[in-house]
Amino acid sequence: MSQRAARRPLVAGNWKMNPATRAEALALARDVARATRGVPVDTVICPPAIWLVDVAGAVGDDVGIGAQTMHAEERGAFTGELSALMLDGIAGYVILGHSERRQYDCETDAAVGRKVASAVRHGLRPIAAVGERADERRTGLTDAVVTRQLRAAIAMLDAVAGSGLAIAYEPVWAIGTGDAASPADAQAVAGRIRELLREVDPRGAEEVPILYGGSVTASNAAGFFAQPDLDGALVGGASLSAEAFGGIVHAAAAARA
Ligand code: PGA
Repeated sequence: MSQRAARRPLVAGNWKMNPATRAEALALARDVARATRGVPVDTVICPPAIWLVDVAGAVGDDVGIGAQTMHAEERGAFTGELSALMLDGIAGYVILGHSERRQYDCETDAAVGRKVASAVRHGLRPIAAVGERADERRTGLTDAVVTRQLRAAIAMLDAVAGSGLAIAYEPVWAIGTGDAASPADAQAVAGRIRELLREVDPRGAEEVPILYGGSVTASNAAGFFAQPDLDGALVGGASLSAEAFGGIVHAAAAARA
């Protein structure tokens, strides 16, 4: 049995490499803050790194700020990277292991595990993303892939309890395609993820928000939030509209009302 009431919903917007200008980023951030103010949901926006500070300033305390990735080391000769130390005081969250990072930046399961451990050590809440590709799903490998990625993501944590960890289940074939998973399929994998967390830390597993990601919109969000093991969403495309993103955040609150 999942202790859902103990988990606060979490909705995070991954802006990816958008929007194109700083002015647009600040306007969007302010609109998101206005659209979600006072809603009992942990609402987070993850802008491009160069605007983390400005966006944090624009939204104030109402909206959490997340980085889209970071390096596992604290400092050193890693061109183009940024570390948990550098995010300290700016971001409270960091997305790790997003499928686009795995696909285009060769991020491995082991690297995701090192990054998750570094984030937790530095008091950042990791949103660790896992999910199967279309070919893996077709060949019945969803469970094997998610199990492998999840185990690696938490391998270096001493405990799940108190870590601030969130897991995003994002089937790769559903990202940016308009072809979202069904709420029942997303729940089946989320339930499996919680079972895997319980194997490591039975108490801690109940604290972890599990998010669904992949073509979430204001119209389909409620179906995911009605599932017992889904506590929120990781939103890409729809997070670039304050109206759509605000609708998703309100849907997350309504599911708990
Ligand atoms: P999408 O992206 O909502 O545009 O499908 C989700 C994600 O990449 O996190």
